[in-house]
Amino acid sequence: MTSETPVLREMRWWDIEPVLELEKELFPDDAWSRGMFWSELAHARGPGASRRYVAAVDGERIVGYAGLAAVGGLGDIQTIAVAREQWGTGLGSALLTDLLRHATAFECTEVLLEVRVDNERAQKLYERFGFEPIGFRRGYYQPGNVDALVMRLTDPASAPATPSASASVEETPVQGTETHG
Ligand SMILES: CC(C)(COP(=O)(O)OP(=O)(O)OC[C@H]1O[C@@H](n2cnc3c(N)ncnc32)[C@H](O)[C@@H]1OP(=O)(O)O)[C@@H](O)C(=O)NCCC(=O)NCCS
Repeated sequence: MTSETPVLREMRWWDIEPVLELEKELFPDDAWSRGMFWSELAHARGPGASRRYVAAVDGERIVGYAGLAAVGGLGDIQTIAVAREQWGTGLGSALLTDLLRHATAFECTEVLLEVRVDNERAQKLYERFGFEPIGFRRGYYQPGNVDALVMRLTDPASAPATPSASASVEETPVQGTETHG
């Protein structure tokens, strides 16, 4: 069953298998392993939590996910992904908005990310939120030896909200690698 508007909620360990399916489709060259997701989610709950992982759910299907790490006032977008048939509906923006809201709650003063130099779609998304290019990491994506563009957003609290919200958010309290974000 599908609903018109995906719902955003905290990603939990039982989401890892469907997320892995999407991960392999969307990042065929450098998909994260099951262990990487387990390790990230292990830091997403409890005292000292330093991660926010969010899933977008359409009916019972996971159609997107994203993750943020926050350490010492610095946020890092770890990954962001949307099922191909949902591209261009604003879901990527909704996921990024969620991560930036949590970056603010984690008291991050800046947020960094790496993005493949050939991923123009993702770069445009980040630019719309105020991220600016600050450098390159040569050969960051292996295999393939593709460079990463490093982008930075200062003051995530003042980033624009979702331009056109395409997902509703289940309110959850903030509890606070090679990356895809
Ligand atoms: C990058 C990615 C997450 C973007 O997700 P998305 O859901 O397509 O993002 P959005 O819909 O919010 O924005 C994409 C475009 O749709 C447009 N859009 C936003 N809301 C819209 C709406 N309601 N109706 C129509 N178009 C809309 C946006 O203007 C944007 O266009 P622009 O970039 O030309 O300005 C997605 O393409 C993806 O998963 N790619 C593969 C994985 C990946 O590369 N991840 C990033 C790693 S760094």
